Amino acid sequence: MSARVRRATNLRERCGGGRVRSSVQRLGGTVMLAVVAATLATPASLHKEPWMNKSLSAPRRADLLLRAMTTSDKLALVHGVRRKEHPFTGYAGYVPANRRLGIPALRLADGRAGVGNGARKVTLLPAPLAAAASWDTSLMRDYGRVLGEEEWKKGTNVFLGPTVDVVRVPEWGRAFETYGEDPYLNAQMAGAEIQGVQSQGPIADANMYLTMNQETGRFQADSVVDERTLEEIYLPPFRAAVEQGHVGTVMCAYVQTNGSYSCQNPHLLDGLLRKALGFRGWVLSDWGATHSTVASAKAGLDQEMPDGRYYGAALEKAIQDGRVSEGLLNAHVRRILVTMFRHGLFDKPQHGNWNAVATSRKHAMFSREVAEQGTVLLKNEGHLLPLAASGSIAVIGADGGTEPVAEGGGSSYVIPPYVVSPLEGIRQRVGQKARVTYADGSKMTEAANVARAASVAVVFVGAPESEGRDRPNLELPGRQDELISTVAAANPNTIVVLNTGGAVLMPWIDRVRAVVEAWYPGQEDGNAIAAILFGDVNPSGKLPLTFPRTESEVPTATAQQWPGVQGVSIYSEKLEVGYRWYDARHVQPLFPFGYGLSYTTFRLSHLQVNPRSLSAASELSPTSPPVEVSVKVTNTGHRAGAEVVQAYVTEPAATGEPPRQLAAFAKVFLKAGETEPVQLTLRRRAFSYYSVAARRWVCSPGDFRVEVGVSSRELPLASEITLR
Ligand code: BGC
Repeated sequence: MSARVRRATNLRERCGGGRVRSSVQRLGGTVMLAVVAATLATPASLHKEPWMNKSLSAPRRADLLLRAMTTSDKLALVHGVRRKEHPFTGYAGYVPANRRLGIPALRLADGRAGVGNGARKVTLLPAPLAAAASWDTSLMRDYGRVLGEEEWKKGTNVFLGPTVDVVRVPEWGRAFETYGEDPYLNAQMAGAEIQGVQSQGPIADANMYLTMNQETGRFQADSVVDERTLEEIYLPPFRAAVEQGHVGTVMCAYVQTNGSYSCQNPHLLDGLLRKALGFRGWVLSDWGATHSTVASAKAGLDQEMPDGRYYGAALEKAIQDGRVSEGLLNAHVRRILVTMFRHGLFDKPQHGNWNAVATSRKHAMFSREVAEQGTVLLKNEGHLLPLAASGSIAVIGADGGTEPVAEGGGSSYVIPPYVVSPLEGIRQRVGQKARVTYADGSKMTEAANVARAASVAVVFVGAPESEGRDRPNLELPGRQDELISTVAAANPNTIVVLNTGGAVLMPWIDRVRAVVEAWYPGQEDGNAIAAILFGDVNPSGKLPLTFPRTESEVPTATAQQWPGVQGVSIYSEKLEVGYRWYDARHVQPLFPFGYGLSYTTFRLSHLQVNPRSLSAASELSPTSPPVEVSVKVTNTGHRAGAEVVQAYVTEPAATGEPPRQLAAFAKVFLKAGETEPVQLTLRRRAFSYYSVAARRWVCSPGDFRVEVGVSSRELPLASEITLR
């Protein structure tokens, strides 16, 4: 029998329950008009055009088409048109088709956790951060597939995601859209999600490039960051988007980097993205992030969104005046066309439309699976969890009943077909076997009474997060901390379930017996959390970001760092982002990066690292074989479960690198008592650093330490590698 308990089988028992009707009405907002996107039916005459010859390469076809284009044909492709000027109400961005030449329209839509922009009949998945907490790249690829399929069905051919930026500031209002605080984890997730999205038709868009790490003052904020930090911390997810994901577009961000707006920054666009990373797709601006015509065109911005404020009449004039050459315009247009040809937009008919039914039972079940796989068990004193479906259970908090926090806000907001509240999910799960009571937590005395009368109390609390504003601090908003303390005083068996898009402080941690981080869990919220609480699913999520003990201990605790002074945010923590900071400062976080408990136990043994010694720095050249790590993992408990094996590398002190950095991970599913070998491959880059003097990644001779374990702070196995 295979050791891998397939993820799909996790769904097994839980599918019988039937769909739970939602009591949550989150369907506010305007009813979108059912507008049908016209399918581009290529006229027969166009099939004879040389660029329609599918046997030619994408660059060749683009060149042939470019030759047939007038300047105004070209200008029309380098910017979107305003909503009122295009026939489709749904999409966030629209570039009209060129019927004469057979260039299809571009329909760009949001959707980090499902199709956004007011679409209906779509699936609300858990937030990307929740998916990242699974530490399962195959799950992430499927996440991308589901998003890509639904977007394609809606007529979208450019999907405005994923958000691959590293979480620098724990309060960042868009942390939920990302994969967390580590460049390597983000890179793996970005590559996987983009592959999934693009396999279904749409071109993906890696955003937001670069140093988009806060919402406060986001339209002007200037991130002052050194070159090494850019290369080592903020660039890797974009590198993976290009190298592993073959992403078709990159969105330049609102912010400035070192005094220059992202969309007119030649170093970021032509230098790093194109020359260093080898990006061959097109760069489109975030909505309103273009600030100039000539400077942007020269720096490498290919397409202005959402309209042509700078790339419409102004660009036409600049071309007439000779301030922008026709050759430069051609270069921008060519990148767009090559990418469109490469991704088949000229060849595969797209029958989708904005009114289509994109969601399905299968996708709803996938949403639930992601929520279950991403949920992190943070504390479980005396094995209070999993619960037995008996006795009486008090569900407390609006987040558990009337107002579940199932997703984040902003452009990624999705109108869910329903949201199963935790109360509904728990009631459905226990049926008649246990008594379930509820208090919304608005009155402390009522909450205490309901908690006191039950055998266990589960308090649901949430921290809403949205694009456009950072969280003011890391506290749970309102009186939720007080609610938890009140319930904990009334019932010794108190469990806290968190629905947050990032880290929160837990002043009550010693007073409760169990804590579960369920993130923004999507439409299957209640079913997923019931499966975790009652042990139908064994939790296996791991934190993709650090949970600090106090607000003052975070890496960006000074006002100069965040939110910045007079619009300038200084990245003075440099490489010490996330756990790197806590490790370097010997600060014990509340819960470290990579941490998460299970209902079973695991043992790691038999670490082998090969080779142990490298005779010359040249052995770590791009073509040199990577370092292979193997370890045995045993499920020493009584339940099937999954563990995430994590490898961290410590470089010689002379390199100035942080104490340890994630270099590889693998998730292994094991039955009770089972042992499996796990292989990890450490890339050359894990043994190098970016030298500003040499302007490249270099290796430093000395002793490297490879540590293997189950969180950034629990690394029982270690080995040395010497580089001579
Ligand atoms: C957001 C982008 C989004 C765009 C279009 C912007 O405000 O920053 O992430 O894709 O709007 O909705």
